[in-house]
Amino acid sequence: MSTGSHPDDPVSPPVQLVGDGMPVPCADGEQRPYLSLDAAASTAALPQVLARVEEFLPWYSSVHRGAGYKSQVATRAYEDARSAALAFAGQADSGDHVAIICRNTTEALNHLAYRLRLSRDDVVVTTVTEHHANLLPWSRAATCRHVECDLEGTFTAGDVEAALDQRPLPRLLAITGASNITGWMPPLNVIIAAAHDRNIPVVVDAAQLAPHRPIPAEADFIAWSGHKMYAPFGAGILTGPRRAFADGDPFLAGGGAVDLVDLDEVLWTAPPEREEAGSPNLVGAVALHAAIDTLTSIGWPALIGHERHVGLMLRQGLASIPGIRLLGPGPQAQTLPVAAFTVDGVPHALVAARLAAEYAIGVRHGCFCAHPYLMRLLRYTREDVHQYRDKVRRGDRSAMPGAVRASAGINTTEQDVARLLTAVAHIAGGDPPPFAYQLDPRTGDYYPSGEVHGQLPPLAHQAHCSPG
Ligand code: ALA
Repeated sequence: MSTGSHPDDPVSPPVQLVGDGMPVPCADGEQRPYLSLDAAASTAALPQVLARVEEFLPWYSSVHRGAGYKSQVATRAYEDARSAALAFAGQADSGDHVAIICRNTTEALNHLAYRLRLSRDDVVVTTVTEHHANLLPWSRAATCRHVECDLEGTFTAGDVEAALDQRPLPRLLAITGASNITGWMPPLNVIIAAAHDRNIPVVVDAAQLAPHRPIPAEADFIAWSGHKMYAPFGAGILTGPRRAFADGDPFLAGGGAVDLVDLDEVLWTAPPEREEAGSPNLVGAVALHAAIDTLTSIGWPALIGHERHVGLMLRQGLASIPGIRLLGPGPQAQTLPVAAFTVDGVPHALVAARLAAEYAIGVRHGCFCAHPYLMRLLRYTREDVHQYRDKVRRGDRSAMPGAVRASAGINTTEQDVARLLTAVAHIAGGDPPPFAYQLDPRTGDYYPSGEVHGQLPPLAHQAHCSPG
C-alpha cells in the first residue's frame, strides 16, 4: 500500500485514493468506512494527482492568452498534458495527430460526430454493447447499423466484418474498448485491422478501457475521460488525425479557436486550438497528466495483474452466491474488474440502497447509461421494454428494469471484495433489513424510512440515484 508514502514515490497496486476509507453514516447510526466499488462510473483522485494540482494551483493563469510568466508556465503545463495524452494513446507527437482536451468521453464523441459532417445518408456501424455516449451522437447525426450481441453479451470480429460489408458501405466504425456493464473487451485489434482493410476509419470509446488496459494505437480516433482514471477534474480527451480537424467549422465557436474575426468573416485557426474555443480546463489537464504519469510509472503489468486478481475474485465470488445472476460472459472470462448482477427476488434499487444504508458500500444500479445492452443482458423482449417505457412516460419508475454493478479499480483490495461479497450474500440469503425501506415511484429508488439515523433524506426534484 502507498499509505504514508510520498505522493511521488513509485507504488504498485492497490494504491489508496484520496478519501478512501472515510467514515460515512449508516442508517443504524453507526459510522462505517466508505467502500466505493463504482470505479466504472467515477474514480476518486490519486494522491499524485491531488499533489500535482496543489503544486500547480499557485501558477494557475491564462492559457495561450498572456505573455506574463505565469501564463507561460500555464501554457507549458497545458501543452505538456496534451503531449502526455497523445503518448498515452500510443500516438507519436509528430504533428500528424492531435489530442483535443475536452470535458469527457461524451463530449469527445459528440465533438467528433459534429466534425465528421455526417448526414442521414451516412452509415455508422456501431454495436448494441455501447453506452449512450457511443450510441446517441451517431444516431442523431447519421444512420446506424448495429452489431448484435449473443446471450452472453459478446460478438465476434466476424460479426463486425459482416456489418462493415453490408451496403451502403459505412463511413465509420464506432466501437467500445470495453463494456461498462460486463467489462467485456471486444477483440479490438482484429476488428480495427478489418475496418482498415476496408478503408473505414475507427473511433474507439476508451472510457472504460483507458484506466485498465493500453489504448489500441491503431484506432483513428480515441475518446476517454479523466474522471474514470483517477483525475476527477473535468478533463477528457479526443485524439485523431490532424487533417480530420483542419477544415470546416469547429464544434465550439469562440475565442481561442480563431486567427481573425470580423463581423462577417472568421478565419479559424489550426487544430488543436481550433477545436478548443473558450478558456480551457487547465487544472483538469494538469490532473489528467499526473494520472497518466502515475499509471505509466506503475506500468501495465502491475495494473493488469492486480485487476485480474480482484476482478476474478469479484466475479467468481458473486457468481457463487445462491440467487445471484452475473450478467454477460461467465465469471472466468478475462474482463475488466466489473460485475453486473441481479439478485433473485430483490429489486436492483433495493440491493443498492441496502448496500449503502447498512454496509456503507457504494455501487451503481439501474441501466448504466447503456439501455439497449442491458435489456439484452436481462433478456427482455421488445414488448417488455415497451411496457416499461409507457410507465416511465407516466412518471412511474417503480419497476424499472436494471441490475446492480460493482466495479473495482487501482485501489480495490481483496478485503474490499470480501466485504461486498459478505453483504451481497446476506441480502441474497434473505436477511431481513433492520429497518423498513420505502420506494419512491418517481425515481425508482429506495430509502430507509422510519426511525433511521445518519442517512441523507431523499433528494428533491427527482434527482434519483441512477438515471440513465
Ligand atoms: N458513467 C457511466 C457508467 O457508470 C457510463 O458506466
